[in-house]
Amino acid sequence: MDLTPKQTVKYLDDYVISQQDAKKTIALALRTRYRRMQLSPELQEEIMPKNILMIGSTGVGKTEISRRLAKMMRVPFIKVEASKYTEVGFVGRDVESMIRDLVINSISIVKAEKEEENKDKIENYVINKIVEKLLPPLPEAASQSKKDDYQKLLIAMEKRVVDGEMDDKTVELEFDKIHVEFDDSSLPPEMAKVQESFSKIFETMNKEDNKKEVSVKDAKSILKLEASHKLLDMTNINTTALKRAEDGGIIFLDEIDKIAISAKSQGRNDPSKEGVQRDLLPIVEGSSVTTKYGVINTDHILFIAAGAFHLTKPSDLIPELQGRFPLRVELESLTEETLYKILTQTQNSLLKQYEALLSVEGLKLVFEDEAIRAMAHLAHKANEITEDIGARRLHTILEKILEDISFDADEHSGEEFIIDANLVHEKLDMVVDDDDLSRYIL
Ligand SMILES: Nc1ncnc2c1ncn2[C@@H]1O[C@H](COP(=O)(O)OP(=O)(O)OP(=O)(O)O)[C@@H](O)[C@H]1O
Ligand SMILES: [Mg+2]
Repeated sequence: MDLTPKQTVKYLDDYVISQQDAKKTIALALRTRYRRMQLSPELQEEIMPKNILMIGSTGVGKTEISRRLAKMMRVPFIKVEASKYTEVGFVGRDVESMIRDLVINSISIVKAEKEEENKDKIENYVINKIVEKLLPPLPEAASQSKKDDYQKLLIAMEKRVVDGEMDDKTVELEFDKIHVEFDDSSLPPEMAKVQESFSKIFETMNKEDNKKEVSVKDAKSILKLEASHKLLDMTNINTTALKRAEDGGIIFLDEIDKIAISAKSQGRNDPSKEGVQRDLLPIVEGSSVTTKYGVINTDHILFIAAGAFHLTKPSDLIPELQGRFPLRVELESLTEETLYKILTQTQNSLLKQYEALLSVEGLKLVFEDEAIRAMAHLAHKANEITEDIGARRLHTILEKILEDISFDADEHSGEEFIIDANLVHEKLDMVVDDDDLSRYIL
C-alpha cells in the first residue's frame, strides 16, 4: 500500500463524487499504516491505528467508497455488515468470525503472490503432467533412435499443449489428492466438527471413484490447483498471511448504526444488539483471536465503520465503542450538481451501464446534456420532497425514463434513441410534482 494520500483520493475521485473529507481521512489513515510499517519494531508496537466512523445519510457513497477501496487495495481487506452478527452464544455468526474472514482474505492475497512468483514452476508441472498422459512412456528397452524420436515428439507435444491445440482432447486424472475445502469461517464452532466428518466422507467418495476423464482444458485448471498445493509452502503462506492481516488488515464495518440502540426506544432495548457491541469492543481495542491458521492479534487492524444513523445517533452506541472510533467524518447529502456529476463523471456511471445493456439488443442510446441536467434536477427535487435516498434516486429515475424503450428494445435493433430533456420531463414531471405518486413510483 504505497499510494500517497493524494493518489488514493485521486483514485477514489473516479468513482465517488465529492465527499472529499471522507476520502481524505481514509487516505490518510492508509498512509499512516504504511508509514508505521517503515519504523522500528519497538515504535511500530506503540502506534495504534485510529479507527474511523463515517456518517452520512443513505445513498451518499459510504459503501461505494469501501467497495472501491476493496478493489484497489492489495492489503487484507474485508467489508462486513455489523447487522449480520449475533452475540456470542446465540445462533448466528459471532463477531470473531470477521477476523477469521480477514485472515482467509489475507491468505488468498499471499497465495496469489506466491503463485505469481512460481508461475513457471507451476506451469511446467501442469504441462508435464498432461504430456505424460497424452504420450505413453517408451519401454526401457527401446533403442536409442526410438528414444531420440520420442524426445522430439515430446517437445512437439509440449508446444501443442501450451498453445491450447490439445484443449479438446481428454485425459484421465486421479482425484484422490483433491482436497475438499470448506470455507469454515461461515460456520459456527459447533459446526466445525460436522464439517470434518463431511470432509472425511468426501475423501472416501473420492477414493472409490478416483479417476475421471476430463478435457485437457479442464485438466489444466485442476492440475494448477494440485501444483500450488504441492509446490507452494502453505505453512509459510499461512504464517505470512497471518502477520500481514495483523499489521495491515482493514475491516470495513458497514451498517454500524443498525446495532445502535435508540435512546428513544428505551424499555424496548434489544439485548442482542448491545451484546454485539460488547463483543466488538475487545476486537476493536485489540485482543487475540484464534483461527484455524494460528492466533492473530487485532491491535493494529484498522476499522472503518459506516452508518446512516437515521434512527439512531453515534451517541446511541455504547460509550466504550464510541471511544474506539475517534475519527469522525460526515458525508454530505448530494446536491443537484453532484448528482449530475455522478451521472456524467464516474467510471461506471449509470448512463454507461444502460448504454451497454441496451447495446446488447443493438440499440444505441444517446443522452443529451440537457436531459442529464433535467434528471439530476428531478432526482434532487424528489429527494427533497419525499425521502432523501441520495444517488439511489437516479436508479429509479432512469428506470422510469427508459422503461418503455427497454421493454421494446428487441423491436428497435439498429436504431438510435436520443434521450432529450423533453422526454425526461414528459416521463417524470407529473410524477415528481405529485407528492403521493412520487412516493410510490420513484
Ligand atoms: N458520491 C457518490 N459518487 C458516486 N456514486 C455515488 C455517490 N453516492 C452514491 N453513489 C451511488 O449510489 C448508490 C448507493 O450508494 P452507497 O451504496 O454508497 O450508499 P450508502 O451511503 O452506503 O447508503 P446506505 O446508508 O443506505 O448503505 C451506489 O450505486 C453508488 O454508486
Ligand atoms: Mg451502505
